[in-house]
Amino acid sequence: MSGDKKTGRERAEEWWQTSIIEMRPGVIRLRGYEIRDLIGRVSFPAMIWLMLRGELPSEEQAALLGIALGAAVDHGPQAPSIAIARMAATCGVGINNAMASAINVLGDVHGGAGEQALSFYGDIAAAIDGGISLVEAVKTRLDRFFAEEKGYVPGLGHRFHPVDPRAPRLVELTREFAARGVVGGRFADIAGAIEAEVAARKGKMIPLNIDGATAVIYGELGFPPALTRGLFVLSRSVGILAHAWEQSQESDRNKGPLPREWLWAYTGKPVRPFPNDTE
Ligand SMILES: CC(C)(COP(=O)(O)OP(=O)(O)OC[C@H]1O[C@@H](n2cnc3c(N)ncnc32)[C@H](O)[C@@H]1OP(=O)(O)O)[C@@H](O)C(=O)NCCC(=O)NCCS
Repeated sequence: MSGDKKTGRERAEEWWQTSIIEMRPGVIRLRGYEIRDLIGRVSFPAMIWLMLRGELPSEEQAALLGIALGAAVDHGPQAPSIAIARMAATCGVGINNAMASAINVLGDVHGGAGEQALSFYGDIAAAIDGGISLVEAVKTRLDRFFAEEKGYVPGLGHRFHPVDPRAPRLVELTREFAARGVVGGRFADIAGAIEAEVAARKGKMIPLNIDGATAVIYGELGFPPALTRGLFVLSRSVGILAHAWEQSQESDRNKGPLPREWLWAYTGKPVRPFPNDTE
């Protein structure tokens, strides 16, 4: 049937197609499940899993996802996203505006390292699947990284914490879930081997950070790298909301990034007369 012969309904069904939800008056089904069957039985992490993956997770899978999501909710107003949420709230905008402003700065540099870390682990996992040992796969990937990509290995190091207090606990829990057979444990092994090899090359330990550790969990649970960034945004949104709300309860208005008595360094031209002014 040619385009102009199609009914309005056919045109609409062609326009948006989704395997996520069915909705019509009186009916809401997510991934084929009636919403009334999900409500009260499916936790928030399990709902995130169902929405993203199309199937219900086991209770243990949902618990591990919830652990990763819970660990990264906040890092205080030193983190640009949190400071932005608070500054936006002092401008009198709505809580959604404050949240959106904050979420908009989460990307490659701030909060996005989990995606890069999981891609890195994935390259190593693929090399192992190709038949080489874990140690060789890590060495080869790091050789390439230091020769071609340079900079900071994703998922290692922290500006403030000599050891990120979240990471060892997350890895410990991942290993407990692996011991119970919930996940395989290969991404925890890969991250540990990267940490050890970088320490050997740099002559000092540069420990796994929150992004590297949550990438381990998301990888163990089978999430692709690009989704880990979205999961981080969901997680950090909790802290962003809490800070935006707390700030909105206070009386400050138009709060900038520095106390008013501290000004920035001016690096431009010295003061000079306006052209053609005689004095
Ligand atoms: C987070 C980060 C910026 C902190 O860096 P920092 O502590 O300020 O580190 P510095 O730039 O002062 O570097 C200190 C030393 O550790 C090294 N180092 C720090 N993080 C490193 C990493 N991820 N890979 C390799 N070397 C690293 C630096 O090369 C430097 O070595 P040098 O003394 O031989 O020059 C950095 O570790 C990083 O970019 N990590 C990767 C990205 C990431 O995972 N971000 C999420 C953070 S939660």
